[in-house]
This record gives sequence, structure tokens and C-alpha cells, in this order.
Amino acid sequence: MPKHKVAWMPGDGIGIEVMNAARIVLDAVGFDAEYVPAEIGWELWRTEGDPLPARTLKTLRGTDAALFGAITSMPKEEAEAALVPELQGKGLVYRSPIVRLRQEFNLRTNRRPCYAFPGNPLNVKEGIDLVVFRENTEGLYAGVEFHPVPDEVRDVLKEQSPAMRRFDAVSSEDMAISCRIITRQGGENIIRDAFEYAKAYGYKTVTVVEKPNVLRETSGLMVRTARKVAEDYPGIDLWETNIDAMAMWLIKNPQDYGVIACSNLFGDVMSDLCAQLVGGLGFACSGNIGDDYAVFEPTHGSAPKYFGQNKCNPMAMILSARMMLDWLGEKDKAERVKNAVAEVIAEGRIRTYDMGGSNSTTEVAEAVAARARTGAMA
Ligand code: IPM
Ligand code: MG
Repeated sequence: MPKHKVAWMPGDGIGIEVMNAARIVLDAVGFDAEYVPAEIGWELWRTEGDPLPARTLKTLRGTDAALFGAITSMPKEEAEAALVPELQGKGLVYRSPIVRLRQEFNLRTNRRPCYAFPGNPLNVKEGIDLVVFRENTEGLYAGVEFHPVPDEVRDVLKEQSPAMRRFDAVSSEDMAISCRIITRQGGENIIRDAFEYAKAYGYKTVTVVEKPNVLRETSGLMVRTARKVAEDYPGIDLWETNIDAMAMWLIKNPQDYGVIACSNLFGDVMSDLCAQLVGGLGFACSGNIGDDYAVFEPTHGSAPKYFGQNKCNPMAMILSARMMLDWLGEKDKAERVKNAVAEVIAEGRIRTYDMGGSNSTTEVAEAVAARARTGAMA
């Protein structure tokens, strides 16, 4: 019997191509797994009205971890218009299946390493080694949203918060509310995970990125929690920055930062910014990690306009698969994949178009696989 059971969820568009690429590399390092296909994606939304059906959740529950490619998502109206006629007008609302997956399995930490591989022509600077810890289940993505805003909700808010009076003249139809819910436990978990990681891998700082001067309650709770948690890690400095300033400092001095911790939306933004510093979404890998389950995925989307051309950079997916190997305890295989990626990038012969090359997704995967197979360093 294979040692691991991994749910295989290519999803949509180039998700399928980059997953094939990851598989070439996983096979090369001799990863001993049974891959269980799991359906997710746009086609299921269109035809069944649910991009993440119950049968998929069930399949996932029978596995140790999942690999996920990418998914097409669209705002509310466009999503409804895409449904097959029988499902239209039924009030079905498209909610991002990956956000649901994170909540369903309590994958509370989204870890997103952004490392400047030496020799990558797309690095903004050399020496960048950032790891974003994004809270993954609450904050502005908690899913508590209203439009139109029910009178009962308005009444309670008005009663509790004088700031709400400014909106008295606005009709409920002309207003929308998304709640930013931060819990002490959620904040503590993400900050602690960030510090634990910093401690384990020798990072000197954890930067909490919030906006407590304006978002006094939610960002305030995050920052106060961070200060408390930091007391348990005397060798690691806690830096506090506001999200707006951080966007600027990261462009100016990215090599000064190490581990970054944020609530959900800020982490979403920070992780794209950090990704761009080290080559863009083609390099942005991630792990959605809970206590006993994890889903690994590249940060990029399904890129429908490139689908079918087999030209997108598979490094983000391959590096996500590497994170999965590491999480499953396959440290040696994970290391071999990382070294192989580093070698292929440094050598610069086999590159996808985003790096100025003309190789295909598969050719890059095969180049990484060839090096990872032996584990030999260049
Ligand atoms: C990401 C993506 C997702 C998110 C989208 C696709 C819902 O941007 O993983 O960063 O916002 O979390
Ligand atoms: Mg994002």
C-alpha cells in the first residue's frame, strides 16, 4: 500500500497543466502516494451550482493532504449568468471554493514563502527571503456579508455605533457590508505559527502588518496579541508596520524583512506583492495548513487565456508540491525538489516565457525532475 494518500484537484485552466508538471517531479523523487482524483471548479458550478460539491469534501476527508491547481472565479453577477438555464434564478451564490475549503477544514494558516532564487532574472533584488503567514479562515473573508443590508442589522449597528449614523440617508439597496471578524484565538494562532517558523528556520524578525491606527478594534486586537505572543520568543524581534507603509518598504528594502504575519485580506495583498518581488505568480507557492490536514496550491489563478498552450511557469506548483512533501515528513524529497528548482533557475537554460525563455511547462518540469531524481547538486 502506498505510504501517503493525496487528493488530486487540478481544477480549471492552467491548473491542469501545472498539476501535470508537479506530478512529473513527484514521480521523479519517488514519492510513494496514491493520488485520489477530486473534482472542483467552474464546470461544476455551471452545471451543478456548486464548485465544491459534498462528494469532493468526502473524498478529501479520506486523504492525508491535497494538491490543488487553480480555479476560475468570477464576481456574483457574472457567475450567475454562467449557470446552465435550469439553475438560473434560483438564488445560487458563487463563493470561492478555495476560501470555503480553507474554512471547511479549518486550514487556518496560509504559508507563502517568497524566496529569490539566485539567478532568476525576474527578482527585483537578490537576497530576498520572505515568508508570509496569512490568517486563512476569518477576517474580511469570513463570509459574513450583506446586500441589501437588512433593517435589523442596520438598527443594531446604529444603536451600537455612532459612526453608522453617517449612512442614515443611504438606502439598504445602495449599501453593502462585509464584516471583518478577527478572533483572539485566530490572531494568536497565526502569530504563533509565524514565530514558531521564524524560530525553526532562523529568521530574526516577525513583522505584523496591520492598520491599528484606523482599524482600532480588529487590527488593534491583532497587534496586541502579537506583542503578547512575542514575549515567548526572546531571540526574535517583533516589528509592527501599517499595511500601506509596508507596501512601500517592501519595494524599497525587501531584503530587510523575514517572516510577515497578517490577517486574511492583508495577507492576500502582501503575498501577491512579495511574490512579485521574486518573479511573480509563477513562483508563488503556498500551503493552507490546519492541525491535521493541508491543501497545497500555487497562488496564481487558472489563467484561461493561456490554457491549452502548456506555456505557464510550473515552478509555483512544483514548489507547492515541495511544501506538501515537507509537511508530510518527506524532508529529503522536499530538499531534492528545492535544490533541483534552484539549479534549473540558476543554470538558466530551460525557462518559460515569463522568464524570457521559450520552453514549455512540461519541459521545465522535466528539467527539474531530471535533477531531483538523483538529488545531485550542480
Ligand atoms: C489567493 C487567491 C484567493 C484568495 C482567491 C482566488 C479567492 O487570491 O489564494 O490568494 O483571495 O484567497
Ligand atoms: Mg490572492
